[in-house]
Amino acid sequence: MSSENNRLKRRPIAQSMKDLDELMNLESGKMSRDIFWDEAIYQQEVEKIFSRCWLFVAHESQIPKSGDYITTYMGEDSVLIVRQKDGSVKGFLNTCTHRGNKLNFADLGNARQFICNYHGWAFGIDGSLKGMHASEAYEASGMKLQEHSLHPVANIESYKGLIFATLDPEAPSLNEYLGDFRYYLDAVFDMDGQGTEFVGGCIKSVIKCNWKFAAENFVGDILHAGWTHDSGAKAMVGGAVAEVHKFPEESYQVNFNGHGWEFNQDIVGNAATLGEKDILKYLYTLQPAVAERLGDLRSKIIGSISSCTLFPNTSFLPGQNTFRTWHPRGPNEIELHTWTFVNKSAPQEIKDMWQKGGMMTFSPSGVFEMDDGENWEYSTKSNAGFVTRQQDLYLGLGQETKVTDTDMPCNVYQGQINEANQRAFYLRWLDMMKADSWEKVPQRDNPTLPLDTKEFEKQTKNHKEAV
Ligand code: FES
Ligand SMILES: [Fe+2]
Repeated sequence: MSSENNRLKRRPIAQSMKDLDELMNLESGKMSRDIFWDEAIYQQEVEKIFSRCWLFVAHESQIPKSGDYITTYMGEDSVLIVRQKDGSVKGFLNTCTHRGNKLNFADLGNARQFICNYHGWAFGIDGSLKGMHASEAYEASGMKLQEHSLHPVANIESYKGLIFATLDPEAPSLNEYLGDFRYYLDAVFDMDGQGTEFVGGCIKSVIKCNWKFAAENFVGDILHAGWTHDSGAKAMVGGAVAEVHKFPEESYQVNFNGHGWEFNQDIVGNAATLGEKDILKYLYTLQPAVAERLGDLRSKIIGSISSCTLFPNTSFLPGQNTFRTWHPRGPNEIELHTWTFVNKSAPQEIKDMWQKGGMMTFSPSGVFEMDDGENWEYSTKSNAGFVTRQQDLYLGLGQETKVTDTDMPCNVYQGQINEANQRAFYLRWLDMMKADSWEKVPQRDNPTLPLDTKEFEKQTKNHKEAV
């Protein structure tokens, strides 16, 4: 049986702006599967999203001392993030300027200089070329060291301990990029005024899925949790996750510039899945002080059932305290980097419990990570079928749920079982993909709170939400 809707419609490979427009109709909640499979679309993502957006590169706590470095990725570009003598942080492409060999192979450490394996060019921690093996040969040919420094990232800034970089000199400031979304970030990364730190190492794993399946899951997909994670949740806490749909009036999706956070206000729902009662006690004890400092709403999302993605590929879960980047490796593979974050001021035993809880839930052997990975892999792999690939997908949940009479910043939607955040994520994706420059990216979400961090803090402390 075939209906009008199911009839085979062959799409051309999307290479032009017009083709991109045909990939999704966010008003009706329809989306093409091509964006999860097509190599040409992927190459445009690498250029127009990953080489232009602000991307998370490190937490301040990972590189406290001069010479401390981290090797990571911005899209497919390998980068070195290095603490400088003056305390600032610089970032460089991790490639030698001689013949392009990969410069640094270690994940992290402390260095006085970076020396290339191939012909021995040596770079300082500030990226400048200091010297090399057989330097007299270069001197004789008039080569100038200062013309061969490492290629720096265009800009690097941090917000509440999270260091982001962009490869595009035209990108707006980080505060503009995050905009009013900083309001919600403070609930987790600055809940007691003392900030956070990463504990333990980085877990790296490979999932054979398109990066957007992971990012859109964390941006707003609590819907899957009560079904996909039902057995895992029952094993850890007796099924609290499955209760989410019962309290839509107390839960929201909020988004800004493609960043999205879905949450309810149960204070500890996510944290409860770690199976550590002392973590719940810690959060309940802290909550009144957070309410005093940041207001009632934010104090109730410090560990609640919730998830967040910062556009394009950084996500975290309050309460479970897992923080991750989904590095793209072609249209159907990601390299996942995962860390555990904790409040700096938390007692050591609470930090240890969080780290262990993170391993039990969101690591390659964690009860929830395995559930998700399988779904994302098969959501990607099914698109190998040519005819399958011609069929649209649906993301139309919660289209009439926008809340307008509220003081909550960002775009606010009632009910965390919703696809408002996914639609906002894909709208931003489309805007970035269609624009040739930052200037041409539509300004859909204008900040209402001050861009200056100090002013922002002054104005949002004890912010009263009309909810
Ligand atoms: S490629 Fe690095 S020194 Fe030649
Ligand atoms: Fe999940």
